Amino acid sequence: MKYFKYLDLDWKPFAEKLGHYVTHIRPEMSRVDPYDPVILIDKEDLLKYASAELDNMLAGVDFKIERFMMFSTGRNLGQIHTDENIVPCRLNIPLFNCENSETRFYKCSGIPEPGVQPNGLRFEKIDETKCVQVDQFCLTRPVLFRVGVPHNIERFDNPTSIRISCTMEPDRDLSYLLD
Ligand SMILES: [Fe+2]
Repeated sequence: MKYFKYLDLDWKPFAEKLGHYVTHIRPEMSRVDPYDPVILIDKEDLLKYASAELDNMLAGVDFKIERFMMFSTGRNLGQIHTDENIVPCRLNIPLFNCENSETRFYKCSGIPEPGVQPNGLRFEKIDETKCVQVDQFCLTRPVLFRVGVPHNIERFDNPTSIRISCTMEPDRDLSYLLD
């Protein structure tokens, strides 16, 4: 079983549009709140602005995107967690300051502690002293990864800059791509 896989998509035009969307059209999204790091994007609003670029990115694959989420962080090391698991894998793309960071996967023996984000999405926190890192990737291009496996993000650069990525929930289970 793999934890992640880079996907070969024509993603840059969509990422550029999305980057402009979160900095100029909906600038309230490019902010850092460690207690509220994930913002659910209004899909209809986004698609009015970037549907052609999204269609271009997904040309040739057999899935659509159900939910778009913006993830902003300024911290060096994130909490180890699993995400609400409607489908086992999500597609992530980098927007700003992702190149000096690592998304890490863990095997954990601790008991997960359920939590709810301010946006209503559920997650489970896991005690980092009970976790051993098993894999990692750098978000330099689109990646499909298992959100039900404990993970976090470590940044190596200036934590006062905002790291922003977009997490997308496909409309179907794509875990077969990671078998
Ligand atoms: Fe996560």
